[in-house]
Amino acid sequence: MQRKINLILLGAPGAGKGTQAEIISEKFSIPAISTGAIIRDAIASGSEMGNRVKSYTEKGELVPDSVVIDIIKERLAKPDCENGFILDGFPRTVPQAEALADLGVEITDVISIEVADEDIMARMAGRRVCKKCGATFHTMFKPSPNGETCVCGEPLTIRKDDDPEVVKSRLAIYHEQTEPLKDFYESRGLLKIVHGQEKLEDTTALTAAALEA
Ligand code: AP5
Repeated sequence: MQRKINLILLGAPGAGKGTQAEIISEKFSIPAISTGAIIRDAIASGSEMGNRVKSYTEKGELVPDSVVIDIIKERLAKPDCENGFILDGFPRTVPQAEALADLGVEITDVISIEVADEDIMARMAGRRVCKKCGATFHTMFKPSPNGETCVCGEPLTIRKDDDPEVVKSRLAIYHEQTEPLKDFYESRGLLKIVHGQEKLEDTTALTAAALEA
């Protein structure tokens, strides 16, 4: 029988967390939970929470801990998380990691996908996303088979926070506030490092090996 996987994916913005989360989600039939995607949906729907956090996300700043902790509490309580889950983009600060531990949720694996800042800057410039179905493409590394439109037919767009100046600031915030989580989970014996590769499938192979190790 397959073991239960409650996985946290760490990594800088653009390291490929969302890309790998989607693949692992399909392989293990467990939900991939992206706080960034939940926040973008809330902004697009014009909800009270979305309006409150819009300016943080567009500037590339972190949304207040209390907001994302509430999002995760609500999401992890849903029945589809009972057989495992992947957290993509949460926790991002030590208080968020402590709040997750306080919820009593057992984390089985933490994988940090490591990519150099210069490579991330290049990757983000080519990212294209579908606002309707959430699919992510890259002009060079993962082009949409339909060209300028998504496989679902929607035109592809560029995320506001993929502007190069905003990406620089997101990277600085990552190094200052999120990278300390590597020590947090290393000291709990959970951390595995995956060096992000140029080819998506090579990173996928290393991530699968880390989950099997
Ligand atoms: P979020 O959406 O989580 O953004 P992020 O962590 O900055 O990560 P990204 O989605 O930008 O990148 P990714 O690592 O998933 O890379 P991807 O697979 O797309 O958060 C957005 C915002 O929400 C935050 O800035 C913040 O405001 C707020 N927020 C969210 N969570 C929060 C929290 N916990 N606390 C506070 N605030 C929070 O890949 C990137 C590109 O590269 C793609 O085009 C992809 O096709 C390509 N690619 C992927 N892998 C490879 C590869 N191996 N080789 C070549 N290209 C590749």
